[in-house]
Amino acid sequence: MLHTRNAVLPDVEHIHAIIRSYSGNGTLLPRPMAELRENVRDFVVAEVDGQIVGCGALHLYGMHLAEIRSIAVTPDAKGLGAGRKLVEALMREAERHGVTCVCLFTRVPEFFAHMGFGLAKRDDLPDKIYKDCVHCPAFNACDEIAMYRGEIPKDSGVRDLQIPKPLVKLTV
Ligand SMILES: CC(C)(COP(=O)(O)OP(=O)(O)OC[C@H]1O[C@@H](n2cnc3c(N)ncnc32)[C@H](O)[C@@H]1OP(=O)(O)O)[C@@H](O)C(=O)NCCC(=O)NCCS
Repeated sequence: MLHTRNAVLPDVEHIHAIIRSYSGNGTLLPRPMAELRENVRDFVVAEVDGQIVGCGALHLYGMHLAEIRSIAVTPDAKGLGAGRKLVEALMREAERHGVTCVCLFTRVPEFFAHMGFGLAKRDDLPDKIYKDCVHCPAFNACDEIAMYRGEIPKDSGVRDLQIPKPLVKLTV
């Protein structure tokens, strides 16, 4: 039976192994074990019969923006609905926090378009640029596609104090 749950520290080795299996070819950014331990509360895992088959994380920038990161499903469990369940769990988590926009950066835009995400302009998401992109060797040659669901932030947390906006329903 497929289900998702919040990750806990004993899951970190599994999460690390899944992400590592997709980071060699650049599909996912590598995440060191120490970073995963520190950020384990961002993660949900998908399980089938008690076996972890996928993971995904929601990084919070503020009520104006959160980012889905590190979504991956093991090759043998692809196509069973785990990817969708992970996205839905992370969107519920964003809504629980009152987040009005969820973004992500991906090389598989077709999957996320299927999950209700639309194309975004990188410049609309400066929090991400300040946090990650400026440190990335591919900054000027990035082939990841920016996507979002909700309301593009009008004013970013990195520019100004955040004025909370009315809540937008993010789940479908
Ligand atoms: C992308 C990924 C997470 C999808 O996970 P999955 O468990 O196979 O997806 P699901 O079974 O939940 O599929 C849900 C729906 O999306 C569709 N879908 C799945 N992968 C798709 C793709 N690559 N392109 C378009 N649609 C896709 C399915 O057909 C399904 O549609 P339906 O609900 O209408 O039947 C998985 O293929 C993966 O781990 N890929 C490698 C890592 C990666 O690229 N992660 C994204 C980095 S940002």
